[in-house]
Amino acid sequence: MWFKQKFPVWASNFIDLIIKLTADHGPAVSGAHNTRVTARAGKDLTASIASGILTIGPRFGGAIDAAAKYFKMAYENKMEPEDFVEYMKNVEKIPIPGIGHRIKSTKNPDKRVGLLKNYVFNKFPTCKLINYALDVEKVTTSKKENLILNVDGAIGVSLVDMFWALNYKNKDIDNLIQRGAFNAFFVIGRTIGLIGHYLDEKRLNMPLYRHPVDDILYDEESPIEYSQEV
Ligand SMILES: CC(C)(COP(=O)(O)OP(=O)(O)OC[C@H]1O[C@@H](n2cnc3c(N)ncnc32)[C@H](O)[C@@H]1OP(=O)(O)O)[C@@H](O)C(=O)NCCC(=O)NCCS
Repeated sequence: MWFKQKFPVWASNFIDLIIKLTADHGPAVSGAHNTRVTARAGKDLTASIASGILTIGPRFGGAIDAAAKYFKMAYENKMEPEDFVEYMKNVEKIPIPGIGHRIKSTKNPDKRVGLLKNYVFNKFPTCKLINYALDVEKVTTSKKENLILNVDGAIGVSLVDMFWALNYKNKDIDNLIQRGAFNAFFVIGRTIGLIGHYLDEKRLNMPLYRHPVDDILYDEESPIEYSQEV
C-alpha cells in the first residue's frame, strides 16, 4: 500500500522483521514513557499513543531517513569512512544520524541491530550500504565505544540496500527519504508497543504519575536572580 507494489518474499519478510524489532524497547524510552504518563493522567487510547508518537524524532526513532540520506550520499560520492565522519563534524556540523546510543556500545551490543544485520547478510542480494555503514562504525567506535551503528541507522541503510536491489532509481529512493517514508517503519512498529503500554496502564489501574523531583532538577546555577521583595 505504501509503495504501490508487491515485494518479493525476502523484502516483505524484512519489513515484517523491522516492525517486530521496533515494536517495543521497554517502558523507559521517550515514546513509551510519554504514553504511560498520558494514560495515567486519565487520557484515552488515541491521546496516549499520540503523545508517545510525538517524541519520535532526530534523537529517538526518527533518524532513519536522515541516516539513509547521509550514508547514501557519502557512498555515492565515494567518501572514505574517515572523510565522511569529518565531513559530518565540520561541514554538516551535526551528529551522524544512525550512529550512537545512550546505553548500547561495542561492549553491550544492540541485539536488534545484530538481527537486522544477520537478515540482510543472509537474504539480501546486495549489502553495499550496510557494509559501508559498518566501515563508518569502525571509525566512530574507535573514538567512543557507544558510537555504534544504532537501530535507526541499521534500518535506514538496509532499506536503501533493499530499494537498490528492487531496482528503484536513486531519484525515487531520495524522494521516499525526503518524504519521511523510512521513519514510517519505526512509527508503525512502535505504535504497536505504545498501545501495549497504554493497555498495561489501564489494566493495572495505575494512578496519576508524578516524577521524583530530584531526578529532573537541573544541576546548574540559576541564571535568574529574583528580587527579595517579590
Ligand atoms: C542517540 C544519541 C542522542 C545518544 O546521545 P548520548 O549518548 O546522549 O551522547 P551525547 O549527545 O551526550 O554525546 C556524547 C559524545 O558523543 C558524540 N556523539 C554522539 N552521537 C554522535 C554521532 N551520531 N555522531 C558523532 N558524534 C556523536 C558527541 O558529539 C559527544 O562528543 P563529546 O563528548 O566529544 O562532546 C546520539 O548519539 C545521537 O544524537 N545520534 C544521532 C541521532 C540518532 O541516530 N538517533 C537515533 C537513536 S536510535
